[in-house]
Amino acid sequence: MTIIIEKPDLDLQIMEQKVQEEPRELVLDAGFKVQKSVTNTGFDAPEINSFGQSFRDYEAESERKETVEEFYRLQHINQTYDFVKRMREEYSKFDRAEMSIWECCELLNEVVDESDPDLDEPQIQHLLQSAEAIRKDYPDQDWLHLTALIHDLGKVLLLPQFGGLPQWAVVGDTFPLGCAFDESIIHHKYFKGNPDHNNPAYNTKNGIYKEGCGLENVMISWGHDDYMYLVTKENGTTLPPAALFIIRFHSFYPLHTAGAYKHLMNKEDEENLKWLHIFNKYDLYSKSKVLIDVEEVKPYYMSLINKYFPTKLKW
Ligand SMILES: [Fe+2]
Ligand SMILES: [Fe+2]
Repeated sequence: MTIIIEKPDLDLQIMEQKVQEEPRELVLDAGFKVQKSVTNTGFDAPEINSFGQSFRDYEAESERKETVEEFYRLQHINQTYDFVKRMREEYSKFDRAEMSIWECCELLNEVVDESDPDLDEPQIQHLLQSAEAIRKDYPDQDWLHLTALIHDLGKVLLLPQFGGLPQWAVVGDTFPLGCAFDESIIHHKYFKGNPDHNNPAYNTKNGIYKEGCGLENVMISWGHDDYMYLVTKENGTTLPPAALFIIRFHSFYPLHTAGAYKHLMNKEDEENLKWLHIFNKYDLYSKSKVLIDVEEVKPYYMSLINKYFPTKLKW
């Protein structure tokens, strides 16, 4: 893998300031209570996470609760339309690394999970657990297996060579910018501190968008989802549109769980959302103690990587 030496940083001064404030221990895929259940696909869902609590149960007595709330306070204040625009421009240079998908999976293992309340295994386990669970239930959708494997690779943004972004700019639930913040967004009250909240161009239901404009045209808060979407697109993947949709919107809980922002969707989004709903169950429930033997499944995933991606990607 070639890691390109990082340039002295962009105009991220605001962020660097914030990095200091950032709690070191954190959140993740956050916000909605999830009932213990078996999914309608027949996939057995573990009932509790690695910490002995229900998945995404942030109301549970949890040492992490305050940290999670503080995380969302920072996220809601700092994720503005302009911020996302700058991040997209900066990361669209793809000048940080050249590496294969598998190299990135291994690199992500360095991001040990302080950031997810449901997870204390290395990231590669979460990726493979999701992918293997989907593979079992949807054996013919190989693109979906690979999508699961790569959906969180954008978390490399936390590593120094990818800018060492603060948690609020990498993980957590995502939401659109350029239109009103929907009430269903977790810890909505903190948007009061977001400059966009008082901007008349951005604070109406449609904001800068037209109804039915399609989510592809909507700016979404910056994080591992949008970054991996850009990387995947830039490197000419042959994965279907539904895969790109899953990658970009898998943390968009206000849409896929609360049903908000549907007025911005077009026909294609409606089709893609069905796949995202399927994917999401595996993203949540596969965070379990069942460890996957990496070497055993690696050849299968390498064959999918070779089918859908070039050998080296620009990151
Ligand atoms: Fe994710
Ligand atoms: Fe995930």
